[in-house]
Amino acid sequence: MQKLEQLYEGKAKKVFKTDDDNLYIIEYKDDATAGNGAKKGTIAGKGVINNKMTGMIYDMLAAHGIKTHLVKVLSDNEQLVKAVTIFPLEVIVRNTAAGSISKRVGIPEGTVLSEPIFEFSYKNDDYDDPLINDDYAVVMGLATRDEIAYIRQTTLKINEILKDFFAQRGVNLIDFKIEFGKTADGEILLADEISPDTCRFWDAKTGEKLDKDRFRRDMGGIEEAYQEMLRRVGDK
Ligand code: TMP
Repeated sequence: MQKLEQLYEGKAKKVFKTDDDNLYIIEYKDDATAGNGAKKGTIAGKGVINNKMTGMIYDMLAAHGIKTHLVKVLSDNEQLVKAVTIFPLEVIVRNTAAGSISKRVGIPEGTVLSEPIFEFSYKNDDYDDPLINDDYAVVMGLATRDEIAYIRQTTLKINEILKDFFAQRGVNLIDFKIEFGKTADGEILLADEISPDTCRFWDAKTGEKLDKDRFRRDMGGIEEAYQEMLRRVGDK
C-alpha cells in the first residue's frame, strides 16, 4: 500500500490518498485544540495513543456488528481506512450532563440523564459548529431523513456497547462525539476516532476526569490520563 498525496489536514489528523482509490491512510497528530482552535497546544504521545485506542475500539465495535471505515492499524500513528465522504455532522450522545449542555441549558455537570440525549452539530468552524436538528440537516442537504434515522439508530446502539465496555474497565462514559461517512457505493460507515479527545471519561470510583477536559480546563496530568485510558481499553 503506497501513501500518496495529502488530501486533508484537520486539527488532530491528516488524511492521505493511496494507490487504491477506495482506501485512505489517516495519520494521527499530537496537536490539540479546544474552543474551535482558540486554544492550541500539543499532548505528547497523543497521536499514538488515539490511533491505538481507536483501532481497538473500532475492532470491538465491528465484532458487535457496527460497520466502520477501519481496515487496519498500520503503524504507531497511521491507520488504513475505507475512503468515505464525511457527513458534516458532529454526532453526540450524552449520558451524564457535562460541557456544552450544562452551559446551554443549565443542567448541572454530573447530572445523570434519565435517558441518553442524541444531538448533532453542523461541522463548520465558520459558524462554530452550531447545534442543529433533523430539519436543518435535510433542508441544508447534509443528510437525508433515512440517513439521519440510520445514524441515530446506529449511534444509540454504539452508546450501549461503549457504555458496557467502559463500565467493565471502571470508566463512566459521560458523552462522546462520532462521525459517519459514505463510501462511493453509498454505504454509511462509522468514521473518525473514538478517544479521550472525543469522549468524556470519568473514573467510576473517584470521578477523576480521564479525557481532554484536562487540556480544555488546564488541569494538568493530561498525558497520564490518556495513557491510563489506553491501558484500560487494552485490558481484556
Ligand atoms: P460538548 O459538551 O462540548 O458539546 O462536547 C460533547 C462531547 O463531544 C465531548 O465528549 C467532547 C466531544 N466533542 C468533540 O469531540 N469535538 C468537538 O468539536 C466538540 C464540540 C465536542
